Amino acid sequence: MQGAVVIMRQRRQRTTTVWLQLAVVLLIGLVSFTSAQEELGSGDYDDSVSVSQSGSSSAGDIGDRNPCSFRGNFLQHKQSTRLDPCTECVCSNGTTTCNIESCPSDAGCDPTEIVVIPEECCPQCPYNMYIMDTHIVEDAPIDFTIGESKRVKFGLDMEIERKLTSRIVRGEDLWKLSTWISPNQDGSGPRYSSTDNVFGEKDAAKEYFKPQYPPWEWTKLRNTFRFRGGTCDDFKYFCVEFGQGDAPRPTYDLSFTMQAVHDEQERLIDCVPLGTVLVRGGEVKKGVDLGEQGTKTVP
Ligand SMILES: *[C@@H]1O[C@H](CO)[C@@H](O)[C@H](O)[C@H]1NC(C)=O
Repeated sequence: MQGAVVIMRQRRQRTTTVWLQLAVVLLIGLVSFTSAQEELGSGDYDDSVSVSQSGSSSAGDIGDRNPCSFRGNFLQHKQSTRLDPCTECVCSNGTTTCNIESCPSDAGCDPTEIVVIPEECCPQCPYNMYIMDTHIVEDAPIDFTIGESKRVKFGLDMEIERKLTSRIVRGEDLWKLSTWISPNQDGSGPRYSSTDNVFGEKDAAKEYFKPQYPPWEWTKLRNTFRFRGGTCDDFKYFCVEFGQGDAPRPTYDLSFTMQAVHDEQERLIDCVPLGTVLVRGGEVKKGVDLGEQGTKTVP
């Protein structure tokens, strides 16, 4: 009995100390939050603290920017140094500013799943991405001419199931986006001008960071569609399917899961009606009538 009480006291004390430390960090962070954010422009830090120190202005100017002398280190203008996994300092015209990352109290996964990476400040969780819905974003309906190719610019806006999705998901070749032209609003049936993946390297490595979501979107995606091998009735919808990259390389080799909520694959697909159909020679055939969407359910 006596032993149990002692252990409980020790735990209580340790918790209090942690809370005190956290409060101090938050307080300092709040005081200098604005200035540090402005100087570094980094959105990845939850709290920041400024540690400023003037460098010698006589030695080695780069243009009219001064280097910094910081804790025995000599930093050039714009050069940064990492003091520990949670503290990164950058020199800006004679002044060193440090960003201290503080970790969220809830790592975002079951404690048994937490992975500690030496070079990372905060404990890491497996990368879980659950997709709620996929939306094509386009400025205007795509007009096209049968028999010809058309370069199309569009965007993608993903809706994420926040509760099941990890705080951070990052790596390379994580995502891909397939496109095609379909006669059907749900993208079923023959796929015309199908492209397996329109994402470039950077698009495929797009990071998900929960505090910044929404939006989780891609803009200025490009694809060339060939309106060949079918008739007006075949070229009715422009469709995309979001998916996992063919060879995903999650950062630190953490486990990576990407799926649609309830495994409902249709959540990864979106189609939008195409615009006016022309035939070669310029004669206007007709626009795709939005009222004719066969699969639309009327309550
Ligand atoms: C850098 O700092 C010096 C004084 O320390 C100042 O005269 C100079 O204008 C600054 N340069 C820029 C670009 O802000």
